[in-house]
Amino acid sequence: MVEVVVVPGALEAGRLVATAILGLVAQKPDAVLGLATGSTPLTIYRALATAVERGHADLSRLRGFALDEYVGLPEGHPQSYRAVIARDVVEPLTLTPDRIHVPDGLIESIRTAGAEFERAIVAAGGIDLQILGLGTDGHLAFNEPGSSLASLTRIKALTEQTRQDNARFFDSIDHVPTHAITQGLGTIRRAEHLVMLAFGEAKAREVASAIEGGVSATHPASIIQLHPHATVLVDEAAASQLENLAYYRHAWADKPDWQGL
Ligand code: GLP
Repeated sequence: MVEVVVVPGALEAGRLVATAILGLVAQKPDAVLGLATGSTPLTIYRALATAVERGHADLSRLRGFALDEYVGLPEGHPQSYRAVIARDVVEPLTLTPDRIHVPDGLIESIRTAGAEFERAIVAAGGIDLQILGLGTDGHLAFNEPGSSLASLTRIKALTEQTRQDNARFFDSIDHVPTHAITQGLGTIRRAEHLVMLAFGEAKAREVASAIEGGVSATHPASIIQLHPHATVLVDEAAASQLENLAYYRHAWADKPDWQGL
């Protein structure tokens, strides 16, 4: 069953996930983390950065793979996910840059970039913990509705809704790329532990479809139901359309502390 944890807000979610990651790193200093971009996971990265600043953790051996990247942005573009991951994750967490991989979205290499990224994940021994956000249209990474449940890293056309949602990071919607390269749903399913976060009412419908609806390509995040170890952290607003809320609450409240996420 997908474990659903209802938290007061993003800060608490970030703290819980950061604790799980620090526990993983304590056991395996060169653990492989799947990195999501977007605003949702920022509290995780801030909590990890604080742990590093206070000398409670050394993340220099951690390895990482980003979920996705825009296609066709010029090298060094501040909104490319390569730049975002460097700014929001690698620098504050003092990760080692050459241990962190982002799919290559440059036009010149796009034909082979997906297969190369897949090979790199396999060579690293797979992803231990995959952080995931959720698009308002239900997309997971940039797997838009309709994505194959078995898909691997490849190029995808973005929906208009996704382009509108992400227009806030660009001068206008016309500057938002039309395509992205993204880990596939099949890639994501291979990670050892999936940790999806969603906050706010705009995500409530897709949260309910992902956790309690049928598994289908129409709701890409529903693949979490096929995973043996999937955790979803939501605030009250994002949880508001879940039917089994009372059960999730008491399952979490009664969970022994030692089990963690
Ligand atoms: C983005 C990313 C996703 C992210 C999602 C939600 O476009 N490609 O990986 O999870 O959309 O973004 P946010 O966290 O800002 O709501």
